[in-house]
Amino acid sequence: MTIIPALLAIASLPLADLASAERVLGAYIFQRHGDRTAKALPPAKLTDLGYNQEYMSGNFFHQRYISASSQNHIDGISSSVVSLAQVSASAPQDTVIQLSGQAFLQGLYPPIGSAANETLRNGSVIYSPMSGYQLIPMADVQSGTGSEDNTWLQSTSECSNAEVSSNDYYYSSSYQKLLSSTSALYQSLASDLNNTVSTSGLSFKNAFTIWDLLNVASIHNASASIPSDQVMQELLVLANTHEFNLAYNSSESIRSVAGMTLAGEVLTALNQTITSGGKSKLTMQFGAYASFLAYFGLAGLTNNVEFTGMPVYASSMTWELVTNASGTGIPAVSDINVRFLFHNGTSIDGSTQLQAYPLFGQSEVEIPWTQFVDSTNKFAITSQSQWCQVCGNSTGICSSSSDSTTNTPSSDSSSHGMSLAVAGVIGAMVTLGVLAVLTALILLVFNLRLVRKSVLAPVGRGSEASITPVPSKAA
Ligand SMILES: *[C@@H]1O[C@H](CO)[C@@H](O)[C@H](O)[C@H]1NC(C)=O
Ligand SMILES: *[C@@H]1O[C@H](CO)[C@@H](O)[C@H](O)[C@H]1NC(C)=O
Ligand SMILES: *[C@@H]1O[C@H](CO)[C@@H](O)[C@H](O)[C@H]1NC(C)=O
Ligand SMILES: *[C@@H]1O[C@H](CO)[C@@H](O)[C@H](O)[C@H]1NC(C)=O
Ligand SMILES: *[C@@H]1O[C@H](CO)[C@@H](O)[C@H](O)[C@H]1NC(C)=O
Ligand SMILES: *[C@@H]1O[C@H](CO)[C@@H](O)[C@H](O)[C@H]1NC(C)=O
Ligand SMILES: *[C@@H]1O[C@H](CO)[C@@H](O)[C@H](O)[C@H]1NC(C)=O
Ligand SMILES: *[C@@H]1O[C@H](CO)[C@@H](O)[C@H](O)[C@H]1NC(C)=O
Ligand SMILES: *[C@@H]1O[C@H](CO)[C@@H](O)[C@H](O)[C@H]1NC(C)=O
Repeated sequence: MTIIPALLAIASLPLADLASAERVLGAYIFQRHGDRTAKALPPAKLTDLGYNQEYMSGNFFHQRYISASSQNHIDGISSSVVSLAQVSASAPQDTVIQLSGQAFLQGLYPPIGSAANETLRNGSVIYSPMSGYQLIPMADVQSGTGSEDNTWLQSTSECSNAEVSSNDYYYSSSYQKLLSSTSALYQSLASDLNNTVSTSGLSFKNAFTIWDLLNVASIHNASASIPSDQVMQELLVLANTHEFNLAYNSSESIRSVAGMTLAGEVLTALNQTITSGGKSKLTMQFGAYASFLAYFGLAGLTNNVEFTGMPVYASSMTWELVTNASGTGIPAVSDINVRFLFHNGTSIDGSTQLQAYPLFGQSEVEIPWTQFVDSTNKFAITSQSQWCQVCGNSTGICSSSSDSTTNTPSSDSSSHGMSLAVAGVIGAMVTLGVLAVLTALILLVFNLRLVRKSVLAPVGRGSEASITPVPSKAA
């Protein structure tokens, strides 16, 4: 017990001076999956180690947000029996990520034994299976299907313009330079990789796949030969450079579509907590490292070079709605602040802590809600029609939404019940070609319907133009 205060003091200086009067009104957690087998040897599986990491992280968040005795306990949240109106969870269609989510939720609301007993009309007492195990449903998120079997995460975004943008990295001079300067290093790994990667594949092009194989082997395989720590570190730095450049580029925001979508989901969920008077309280989403990197870039965290590195397994980031206003329930919006926290790896109560970081290049770790909304809206995608527009997609889920981007946006609601984009949201952040601007104007003036938006996709490539915000009520 005595080591805990000392650890807290070291690990969480920005949090140390929290007033006990502070109340947490709600939170959004984005959680990376746990330890898994190598992506290059599909199907990837969550390991027992990964299961434990997620379970422990879930338990950490139980101690932080759910437990009635916690200082950061979410105001009014049910502390032992889950209330499904208060919490929601989502994950893409991916085995590793879905199972990580389930493991996390097991830790978040552990079994409650006979407290879950139910007495029927005829007097029979029903005991729920597995010692009062609590069931929490997991919703699907649209993108990210098969993430952990896919070494190129951007393809799982299904966003046409983002794929084009990420692909551009392979034509950049910084990529070409690293490709040639590291060629000898990668070729030297042939024996360690024992033919898992073909000789022609041993290059910076596969920086992530190669590092992932060796990292997994270094954790699990007692008979594998692993390069020295120094070489492993070098390979990690290279993989980080590779993956960060695919996930974020300061001049092409669409490359970070995973972060733009996540930002919109966070905004919508936290806003829901406020507008519902606190009915919904805790939202969780499970996913892959690319969403972290994309968000880090967009939110101005990457001036700190640590944030350009892939977060390790079971890392968490969380956005908290906090207030110092006394009383109960949701206070005036002007009294609500947002705090962003991150922890690199499995969170375990008492030994590791989340740390608060200031967003958007500011100095304060707490920012007023209205300011958080304004800054987030500079890059957030908050509706499906907006997604279709910035991605330049016009088929599939986007084929019938062309109406809503021009004529009746206020009636559009996506499958996630997202609120509509605030007019002007798109602003200067959207990277579309000049043709897109002209098309939008023509559509506005003549109230035409966009029949083939796919023509926009190639134009967006490499060119950059800000489009005038499309008024939300054009007709
Ligand atoms: C719960 O149900 C189990 C099995 O029916 C029973 O053994 C136990 O006594 C019950 N506990 C309570 C508190 O009702
Ligand atoms: C009470 O109702 C349940 C559910 O219908 C049934 O399974 C059980 O046998 C009943 N118990 C008695 C004592 O009738
Ligand atoms: C968007 O377009 C890309 C490229 O044409 C395609 O691969 C992807 O499946 C589309 N996304 C959706 C959601 O239809
Ligand atoms: C953005 O991406 C393009 C193409 O991949 C590249 O040429 C440019 O250097 C990148 N910019 C930065 C700041 O990385
Ligand atoms: C390389 O893999 C083969 C099977 O593909 C195995 O028989 C051999 O023992 C491995 N070599 C080493 C050095 O582990
Ligand atoms: C462990 O490493 C050895 C040597 O590289 C390899 O042959 C074997 O397939 C690996 N085992 C697993 C489970 O990957
Ligand atoms: C919050 O929700 C309300 C009610 O649904 C809506 O009017 C408002 O625009 C939303 N604000 C944000 C920032 O999403
Ligand atoms: C998390 O840890 C990894 C591995 O050490 C590192 O590459 C990355 O930069 C770290 N991220 C942050 C934000 O500390
Ligand atoms: C609450 O007050 C404490 C002490 O003055 C301060 O450190 C903290 O930032 C405040 N929190 C919010 C959400 O305003």
